[in-house]
Order: sequence, then C-alpha cells, then structure tokens
Amino acid sequence: MATAKVPESQDVTRIERIGAHSHIRGLGLDDTLDARVVSQGMVGQLQARRAAGVILKMIQEGKIAGRALLIAGQPGTGKTAIAMGMAQALGTDTPFTMLSGSEIYSLEMSRTEALTQGFRRSIGVRIKEETEIIEGEVVEIQIDKPASGNGEKRGKLTLKTTEMETIYDLGTKMIEGLIKEKVQAGDVITIDKASGKISKLGRSFARARDYDAMGSSTKFVQCPEGELQKRKEVVHTVSLHEMDVINSRAQGFLALFAGDTGEIKQEIREQIDQKVSEWREEGKAEIVPGVLFIDEVHMLDVECYSFLNRALESPMAPILVFATNRGITRIRGTNYKGPHGMPIDLLDRLLIISTQPYSEKELAQILNIRCEEEDVEMTEDAKDLLTKIAVDASLRYAIHMITVSSLVCAKRKGTEVTVEDVKKVYGLFSDVKRSTQFMMEHQNEFMFSEITHSEPDAPAAAEGDAMTTD
Ligand SMILES: Nc1ncnc2c1ncn2[C@@H]1O[C@H](COP(=O)(O)OP(=O)(O)OP(=O)(O)O)[C@@H](O)[C@H]1O
Ligand SMILES: [Mg+2]
Repeated sequence: MATAKVPESQDVTRIERIGAHSHIRGLGLDDTLDARVVSQGMVGQLQARRAAGVILKMIQEGKIAGRALLIAGQPGTGKTAIAMGMAQALGTDTPFTMLSGSEIYSLEMSRTEALTQGFRRSIGVRIKEETEIIEGEVVEIQIDKPASGNGEKRGKLTLKTTEMETIYDLGTKMIEGLIKEKVQAGDVITIDKASGKISKLGRSFARARDYDAMGSSTKFVQCPEGELQKRKEVVHTVSLHEMDVINSRAQGFLALFAGDTGEIKQEIREQIDQKVSEWREEGKAEIVPGVLFIDEVHMLDVECYSFLNRALESPMAPILVFATNRGITRIRGTNYKGPHGMPIDLLDRLLIISTQPYSEKELAQILNIRCEEEDVEMTEDAKDLLTKIAVDASLRYAIHMITVSSLVCAKRKGTEVTVEDVKKVYGLFSDVKRSTQFMMEHQNEFMFSEITHSEPDAPAAAEGDAMTTD
C-alpha cells in the first residue's frame, strides 16, 4: 500500500487568472457581517454580499460540509466578483478551487472524474508534524579551505542562545547551505535536524549597531533563549487531490506541476481517505473544508447534476458555490427546461442569492475603482460619460473602454483621458446593442443569414445525446 507522503510546498495548483477582478480584495464586510457601501474594491450589491458573508463565516468555522450556494442574476451584476471576494476573504490557508462549467468537458477524463478532482482539490488536510531544530545566534563561522583545492570542505559553527554556546562541526552540505543563505556572524538561524535545511530568521538586536550600512529590509530579532535544540511544531496544508496525485504511481509528484493528472484510481482515493482518517484519530491532522466554485454552472449537464446531488451528501464534501446568469432554460442533456438551467431537485438543496442591477451611482464608483486599478487618469467629464455608457450599454463594455481610451490618450501624448478619447473609442468599437442593431439592419448582406429554427434555445436532440454517451 502506498503510504501518504507530504510534499514540502503547498498550493501548487492554485493559479488563478483574475484580471477582470483584480480590484476585489474581499467582500468588504464589517465585524458584524454588514456590507460597507464601498470597501475592499466592492461596491453596492449589499444584500448579496451580506449573504455571502454569512456563508463565509460558516466556512471559516469549518464545521459544516456539503452546503451549496447559487449566485444568480443578470450578466455583469457581480456574481463572479462576489465569489472572488469570498476567495480573497478566506485567505490562502483554506482551499478555494475555481472551475468554469465548460471546463469539465475535457477529453482526458470523464466529467464525473473532473468534478471529483474539483471536490478533492477543495478539501484541505492540515497536518501537524513535530521536528527537531537547532536555533541560535551565529557567533562565528570558520571554514577551512582544503589544501588541494577540491577536497571536502570542513568547518566549525559556533551558535549561542542567551544561556549556552556550542560549537558544531560542519560538512560540505552544511557549508554550502550557509553560503547560499549568506549567513554571517550576528544572524539568528534555525537548522532543521532531519533535513539539514538552514533558514535565516533575521539579525540579532545585539548586533544592530555594528553596521550602519544595512538595508531597510533587514529584520532584527532577539537572541533565542534556553536550549539550542528545540522541538517545533510545523503545520502544512495540502489538498486531498494533491495527496492523490503524489501517491498515484502512474502520475507521480511532477504531474502536479504539469497539470495533466489524468484519471486517478478509486483505490488510491480510498487509501488516502483511510490514511487521513487514521491521522485524524491520532490527532496529527485535521480536515479544512474549502470551497469549490463552479462558474457558469448551466454548462453542466444532467449527469453532472445527479453526481452533485449525491456528492453533496458525503461528509467530506466542500462548500459548493455556483453562479449562473440564465433564466428558465433547457437543462443540458435533456429536453426539459428548468430555472437557471438546473434540475429542481438540485436547486432545492441550494441556498440562492440573487444579484441586482446597479444604480448609476454604483456604476460610477465601480468605474472609478477600475480606473485606479488600471492606473488610468481620467477627467471628471470623461468619467461621467463612461458612466452613461455603462448605463446604456453595459458595465463590462465601459470597463473595457478604460484601457483602450488610455491607449488612445497615450497615442496623442496626453496624460489624462478626456471626453474626446472616450468618444473616439466609442466610435471605434461597438457594444452589443449597436452591433445587434447593425446585424438586424444588414442581415441580408452577411453569409448564412437565414434562420432555420424559430427557437434558438430548442434542443438539438442529437447533440444532447452525444454529450451523455462516452
Ligand atoms: N459590486 C461590485 N464591486 C466592484 N466591482 C464589481 C462589482 N460587480 C461587478 N464588478 C466588476 O464588474 C465586472 C463584471 O462583473 P462580473 O464578472 O462579476 O459579472 P457576472 O455577474 O459574473 O456576469 P456574467 O453573468 O456575465 O458572468 C467585473 O470586472 C467585476 O469585477
Ligand atoms: Mg461571471
């Protein structure tokens, strides 16, 4: 049986592309979970943010499993933004996995495997380990250069605490470690006894006056007290998925970096679960339920929904957060319609948060924040115009215009975006409304303009069937 190993580094799989939401730093709630009008990059949408905050609290307390939340609302009303805010507020120690509904239709694995991996990425295991370390202030490092030039390096390291001082013999590996960390007399260091890894904690306060040419980044620490040798508890958080991948012989550790993990055998998962439950009983590990966020959830099909129904009932399930902008529409893989394109039985298990369209003032505030985020200077008039465009066309279109207008401004060697720049961009790029209008007027001049189906939403039965047979 494969024993579960623990990798040294955490979060290898958490690379998120959040350019459109990079201004969001949290949910912007106060201590009583009330939403501040503008905070942490978030504007308005108070009800939905407050509701998300309550869920967040439940997640942080870590005691519940298998709850699911649906954020529903029109396009551009901040559904994805709220989910990103939740991720930011949770911090790095709680796993947050983001999937888009369409991502699960990959060729390498079945849809249920993709969802299972998503589930297991979102459950963290916090493992406590005790290690022996040596911690002290460096008094002296003495390295003997071998006479021949390429023999083994030898040396001595003197370390002290406030109470004792000891001389250690050094081998080549330790000497290299000390050189790599640029350790010198006066530094406070720790040496992991098992791995020999050296880490520098900072410079001793006692040496603060020795050099006045030190950079402002130099950190000063107290000379350690007590014994040089100490036992220290270290905590790693890894996800169940990371443990699965590392322990599956076909994949190995490197698959985590390459990302092509393929399907993982059920036996491996069972072994990991068993190991983790042993660790939990021994008090060595605890489970950190995280969040699995599935955006554009209407892209899932009926097979996935029934999988989710079941999976939510497992005690190891993370908190699921879904988002969708669909109304009553066809449930993928069936000929039935459902609210948000989801089956009623799954919807019934969800808590639903709805997002509302923004007022003009809120749009102005969001655009203002985006200007700051993208480092664009803009005159008040231009901002007003942009807000009008956001009201008439869409918030997204207006947000996109910020960068483009600043390019136009730079082209004429201006420093501040003016109304003229915005107007120019408005003329260069059409928004959905104008584009649709144009299509309707000039339909006959485009290719394939005849519409054969009267209802665009009508299921292409053959496509639906093809999706459910593998
Ligand atoms: N309340 C808000 N505060 C700050 N920025 C917001 C807010 N709501 C939306 N935004 C920003 O507006 C843009 C559009 O919002 P978002 O992508 O979250 O919409 P959505 O509801 O997910 O739309 P869709 O249904 O099309 O996916 C994003 O750049 C987002 O960061
Ligand atoms: Mg979205």
